[in-house]
Amino acid sequence: MALERTLVLIKPDAMQRGLAFEILQRFERRGLKLAALRLVHADEAIAGEHYAEHVGKGFYDGLIKYITACPIIAAVFEGTGAVAACRQTMGATKPVEAAPGTIRHDFGLEIGRNLVHGSANTDDAAREVEIWFRGQPVLDWKRDTDGWVFE
Ligand code: RTP
Ligand code: MG
Repeated sequence: MALERTLVLIKPDAMQRGLAFEILQRFERRGLKLAALRLVHADEAIAGEHYAEHVGKGFYDGLIKYITACPIIAAVFEGTGAVAACRQTMGATKPVEAAPGTIRHDFGLEIGRNLVHGSANTDDAAREVEIWFRGQPVLDWKRDTDGWVFE
Protein backbone atom coordinates (compact mmCIF):
# COMPACT_ATOMS: atom_id res chain seq x y z
CA MET A 1 0.00 0.00 0.00
CA ALA A 2 1.18 3.50 -0.80
CA LEU A 3 2.65 5.81 1.79
CA GLU A 4 0.29 8.77 2.10
CA ARG A 5 -0.09 11.98 4.03
CA THR A 6 -3.42 13.31 5.27
CA LEU A 7 -4.61 16.51 6.92
CA VAL A 8 -6.44 16.25 10.24
CA LEU A 9 -8.20 19.11 12.03
CA ILE A 10 -9.22 18.93 15.67
CA LYS A 11 -12.38 21.05 15.43
CA PRO A 12 -13.51 23.69 17.98
CA ASP A 13 -15.95 21.39 19.82
CA ALA A 14 -13.15 18.93 20.52
CA MET A 15 -10.90 21.80 21.67
CA GLN A 16 -13.58 23.23 23.96
CA ARG A 17 -14.40 19.81 25.41
CA GLY A 18 -10.79 18.91 26.19
CA LEU A 19 -10.70 16.02 23.72
CA ALA A 20 -7.90 17.23 21.43
CA PHE A 21 -5.15 14.93 22.59
CA GLU A 22 -7.48 11.99 23.16
CA ILE A 23 -8.38 12.26 19.47
CA LEU A 24 -4.79 12.77 18.30
CA GLN A 25 -3.80 9.76 20.38
CA ARG A 26 -6.18 7.51 18.46
CA PHE A 27 -4.37 8.28 15.19
CA GLU A 28 -0.99 7.96 16.89
CA ARG A 29 -1.81 4.61 18.49
CA ARG A 30 -3.05 3.29 15.15
CA GLY A 31 0.53 3.64 13.93
CA LEU A 32 0.24 6.82 11.90
CA LYS A 33 3.29 9.07 12.12
CA LEU A 34 2.97 12.75 12.97
CA ALA A 35 4.64 14.87 10.28
CA ALA A 36 3.42 18.36 11.28
CA LEU A 37 1.39 19.97 14.07
CA ARG A 38 0.07 23.49 14.51
CA LEU A 39 -2.30 25.40 16.82
CA VAL A 40 -4.19 27.92 14.69
CA HIS A 41 -7.20 30.19 15.00
CA ALA A 42 -8.57 30.06 11.46
CA ASP A 43 -9.95 33.27 9.93
CA GLU A 44 -12.77 33.28 7.37
CA ALA A 45 -10.28 33.32 4.48
CA ILE A 46 -8.53 30.08 5.43
CA ALA A 47 -11.83 28.44 6.49
CA GLY A 48 -13.39 29.40 3.15
CA GLU A 49 -10.42 28.01 1.25
CA HIS A 50 -10.59 24.75 3.18
CA TYR A 51 -14.35 24.33 2.73
CA ALA A 52 -14.56 25.78 -0.83
CA GLU A 53 -16.46 22.68 -2.03
CA HIS A 54 -19.35 23.55 0.31
CA VAL A 55 -19.91 27.19 -0.77
CA GLY A 56 -23.61 27.83 -1.36
CA LYS A 57 -24.85 24.90 0.70
CA GLY A 58 -27.37 25.52 3.47
CA PHE A 59 -24.94 24.56 6.22
CA TYR A 60 -22.02 26.65 4.86
CA ASP A 61 -22.38 29.76 7.04
CA GLY A 62 -22.78 27.65 10.19
CA LEU A 63 -19.79 25.55 9.16
CA ILE A 64 -17.55 28.62 8.78
CA LYS A 65 -18.77 30.02 12.11
CA TYR A 66 -18.06 26.63 13.73
CA ILE A 67 -14.55 26.10 12.36
CA THR A 68 -13.46 29.70 13.12
CA ALA A 69 -14.95 29.78 16.65
CA CYS A 70 -11.67 29.21 18.53
CA PRO A 71 -8.14 27.90 18.01
CA ILE A 72 -7.96 24.43 16.50
CA ILE A 73 -5.17 21.94 15.89
CA ALA A 74 -4.04 21.12 12.37
CA ALA A 75 -1.96 17.98 11.96
CA VAL A 76 -0.39 15.99 9.16
CA PHE A 77 -0.29 12.23 9.64
CA GLU A 78 1.70 9.88 7.45
CA GLY A 79 1.39 6.16 6.86
CA THR A 80 0.42 3.45 4.42
CA GLY A 81 -3.14 4.20 3.29
CA ALA A 82 -3.23 7.10 5.75
CA VAL A 83 -6.16 8.90 4.10
CA ALA A 84 -8.62 6.01 4.38
CA ALA A 85 -7.20 4.87 7.72
CA CYS A 86 -7.85 8.30 9.26
CA ARG A 87 -11.38 8.45 7.85
CA GLN A 88 -12.06 4.99 9.25
CA THR A 89 -10.77 5.95 12.70
CA MET A 90 -12.92 9.12 12.57
CA GLY A 91 -16.13 7.33 11.56
CA ALA A 92 -19.01 8.51 9.38
CA THR A 93 -19.71 12.25 9.03
CA LYS A 94 -22.95 11.91 11.03
CA PRO A 95 -21.97 10.72 14.50
CA VAL A 96 -25.22 8.75 14.89
CA GLU A 97 -24.23 6.74 11.81
CA ALA A 98 -20.60 6.26 12.86
CA ALA A 99 -19.49 2.81 13.95
CA PRO A 100 -18.92 2.19 17.66
CA GLY A 101 -15.26 2.66 18.50
CA THR A 102 -14.80 5.52 16.05
CA ILE A 103 -14.08 9.06 17.26
CA ARG A 104 -17.35 10.54 16.01
CA HIS A 105 -19.41 7.73 17.51
CA ASP A 106 -17.61 7.72 20.83
CA PHE A 107 -17.63 11.50 21.38
CA GLY A 108 -20.35 13.00 19.17
CA LEU A 109 -24.05 13.25 18.41
CA GLU A 110 -24.57 15.85 15.67
CA ILE A 111 -23.13 16.38 12.18
CA GLY A 112 -22.35 20.04 12.90
CA ARG A 113 -20.35 19.06 16.00
CA ASN A 114 -18.43 16.09 14.67
CA LEU A 115 -15.12 16.89 16.33
CA VAL A 116 -12.61 16.12 13.63
CA HIS A 117 -11.77 16.56 9.94
CA GLY A 118 -9.75 14.23 7.76
CA SER A 119 -8.94 14.68 4.06
CA ALA A 120 -11.27 12.76 1.74
CA ASN A 121 -8.61 11.66 -0.78
CA THR A 122 -4.93 12.17 -1.59
CA ASP A 123 -5.58 15.17 -3.89
CA ASP A 124 -7.58 16.92 -1.16
CA ALA A 125 -4.87 15.99 1.34
CA ALA A 126 -2.15 17.71 -0.71
CA ARG A 127 -4.37 20.79 -1.20
CA GLU A 128 -5.29 20.96 2.50
CA VAL A 129 -1.73 20.44 3.78
CA GLU A 130 -0.75 23.41 1.61
CA ILE A 131 -3.60 25.52 3.06
CA TRP A 132 -2.83 24.78 6.72
CA PHE A 133 1.00 24.48 6.57
CA ARG A 134 1.84 27.05 3.90
CA GLY A 135 5.54 27.89 4.24
CA GLN A 136 5.87 25.67 7.30
CA PRO A 137 7.82 22.44 7.49
CA VAL A 138 6.19 19.05 7.12
CA LEU A 139 8.85 16.68 8.39
CA ASP A 140 10.11 13.60 6.64
CA TRP A 141 11.56 11.56 9.48
CA LYS A 142 12.39 7.93 10.14
CA ARG A 143 10.72 6.64 13.27
CA ASP A 144 12.64 3.81 14.97
CA THR A 145 9.42 1.76 15.13
CA ASP A 146 8.44 2.26 11.45
CA GLY A 147 9.47 -1.30 10.55
CA TRP A 148 7.10 -2.64 13.21
CA VAL A 149 4.14 -0.69 11.81
CA PHE A 150 4.84 -0.62 8.06
CA GLU A 151 5.78 -4.06 6.72
P1 RTP B 1 -14.83 16.64 7.04
O1 RTP B 1 -14.66 17.27 5.68
O2 RTP B 1 -15.06 17.63 8.14
O3 RTP B 1 -13.78 15.62 7.36
O4 RTP B 1 -16.17 15.79 7.02
P2 RTP B 1 -16.73 14.92 5.86
O5 RTP B 1 -15.81 14.87 4.69
O6 RTP B 1 -17.09 13.62 6.51
O7 RTP B 1 -18.03 15.73 5.49
P3 RTP B 1 -18.24 16.87 4.38
O8 RTP B 1 -19.37 16.43 3.54
O9 RTP B 1 -16.96 17.23 3.72
O10 RTP B 1 -18.74 18.07 5.27
C1 RTP B 1 -17.81 18.88 5.93
C2 RTP B 1 -18.30 19.23 7.30
O11 RTP B 1 -19.43 20.11 7.18
C3 RTP B 1 -20.31 19.87 8.25
N1 RTP B 1 -21.60 19.51 7.71
N2 RTP B 1 -22.73 19.91 8.22
N3 RTP B 1 -25.45 20.35 8.77
C4 RTP B 1 -25.13 19.61 7.71
O12 RTP B 1 -25.92 19.11 6.97
C5 RTP B 1 -23.71 19.40 7.47
N4 RTP B 1 -23.19 18.70 6.48
C6 RTP B 1 -21.86 18.78 6.63
C7 RTP B 1 -19.72 18.74 9.08
O13 RTP B 1 -18.97 19.31 10.16
C8 RTP B 1 -18.81 18.05 8.11
O14 RTP B 1 -17.79 17.36 8.77
MG1 MG C 1 -15.00 16.57 3.74
